[in-house]
Parts: sequence; structure tokens; C-alpha cells
Amino acid sequence: HDHVITSKQLSRSDIETVLDRAAEIRDDPTAVADRHAGALLGLLFFEPSTRTKMSFETAMKRLGGDVVDMGSVESSSVKKGETLADTVRVIEGYADALVLRHPKQGAATMASEFVDVPLLNAGDGAGQHPTQTLLDLYTIRENAGLEDLTIGIMGDLKYGRTVHSLAYALSNFDAHQHFISPESLRLPREVVYDLHQEQERAQVREHESLEEILPSLDVLYVTRIQRERFPDETEYQKIAGEYQIGVDTLEAASDDLTVMHPLPRVDEIAPEVDETEHAAYFEQAHNGVPVRMALLDLLLGDEGGEDDE
Ligand code: CP
Repeated sequence: HDHVITSKQLSRSDIETVLDRAAEIRDDPTAVADRHAGALLGLLFFEPSTRTKMSFETAMKRLGGDVVDMGSVESSSVKKGETLADTVRVIEGYADALVLRHPKQGAATMASEFVDVPLLNAGDGAGQHPTQTLLDLYTIRENAGLEDLTIGIMGDLKYGRTVHSLAYALSNFDAHQHFISPESLRLPREVVYDLHQEQERAQVREHESLEEILPSLDVLYVTRIQRERFPDETEYQKIAGEYQIGVDTLEAASDDLTVMHPLPRVDEIAPEVDETEHAAYFEQAHNGVPVRMALLDLLLGDEGGEDDE
């Protein structure tokens, strides 16, 4: 079925179809302004979100559709103990597609087994965040190109779902992937194993320091070190300090380096970097709209308006 649960399910051709459609929509958004008039997208966010939720809502409205929003866990019947399976079965009766964010890894896979409308995983615990990956790939393609790419992915690689999703998707493009993190926050071994299996020539390297690899990078993808996972604050401060990017850090980088971050950031990229040519993270967040419009358009298909192709 047309559920979008993990980036592992996306082939190179699937990815290119979405990115090409997103580029068309970005160039001429009015062409799709009424395309899905009357269609409703159900938003089920069991965890906080700013970008993902609001860009899905923007995307659906820019396609002529609208959203129905469960609201917070606190204000919903989840508080009364309703199961996720029951919740999605009910909301699929209200909406043409569902977007689910949930703290439990595997929640989207489970929920998708109970519904017939397309279900999009907007983040499941430390698992996957495939629509983030599509907007990340779009941003990489625009700034550095996806061919012969050398990318550094830095920060909390253990729990970062955007990283797990992106790494699998990049293996479709034979990217050179350098993972930079403290030992305690390395990529799960299972992900490293899968990447080696998937790529003809494994081009995956792990580092504890950015310094040795920075000059060779086309893209540096920074993620938040998750403070809440450190029992000892001083240990967090020690580690976090080593994985912060300032203008001085970037002196050793190529002039063409693109710096990305899924956001929200805390203090891993200094605000001064925002003013440099390297910074692409706000553009990246904005790309969430055309990319999610493209994805929704492809999933909702010809159920839209009269000007369907
Ligand atoms: N990048 C991202 O998923 O941001 P939100 O948590 O704000 O949706």
C-alpha cells in the first residue's frame, strides 16, 4: 500500500519522482492550488513538532485541501487510554491520508496495518523520519548535487531518526558517508551493517572528530546532541562542546560546503554561521512545503480537482 513508513522502502527512482515533482510545484505553485480541493489530511502528533506538522498543514492547504488535527495527547482521548490502533481506525474515516508522529519506534508500521488510506510516518521514536529525508535530499540536490556526494553527518547518531532515514536513502546514490560522533552516540550497529549490505562499495566511515574530514565535505549535516539522554550534565557539556559549529570551525571547510540541520537547534550551530554562504538549514525547513506537497499529490493521486493530469 501507499504508506510512507521508512526511507528503506524508497528507491532512487521513487525519490527522484518526488524531488522532480517538488521542483515543478515550487516553480509554479498556482498550478496545483485547487488540485486537492475537498481532501482532508489527518494530523496525529503524539510528540511535539513545529516544522513537520506546520509544513504538512501548509502543504495540504496549498493543494486546496485542509487538515483535521487530533491536537495534543493531553487534549485527546489518548488521555483516556485509547489505543493507537483504535485512534487511527477512527481518524481514517475522517481523512484521505494520515500523518503520524509517535514516541515509540515501530508505531507507524503497526498503525499502518490498521488503515487503508495512506499513512505517513512523521517520526517514530529513534526510528525513521522519511519525509524529513525527502526534504533533506531535495536541499542537498539543490546545493551540492546528489552525484558523487561526500557528506559528514554529525551529532547524536544513535537516537537521531533523521540521520537513520537519511543514511539509508543516501545509499541509493552511492554517497560517501562520514559519521562523526562521540563513541557513546555512534550509529546503531544494525544501521552500519545495513549500509554495508546495501552499497556495492561500502563508503561508510566513522569518526570521533570532525577536523580530519571537514575539508573534504560537500555537505555537513549537523544534529542535536540530546541533552535529556545524559545522566551527568558535565559529561554532556564536555561532549556537546566538541560537536559545535562556529564560524571559526568552518575556516577549514571548502568554500562550497553546505551546512544543514533538521532543526530545532539548541547550541550546536552558532548564530554567526547563519550569515555565511554555508548555512542552508532555514532553506531546508522551507523546502518541507514543496516536498510534502509533491508527496501528498502523488499519494492522493487523481482524487483531486478537475485539472488532474
Ligand atoms: N525537523 C523536524 O522534524 O522538526 P519538528 O520536530 O519541529 O517537526
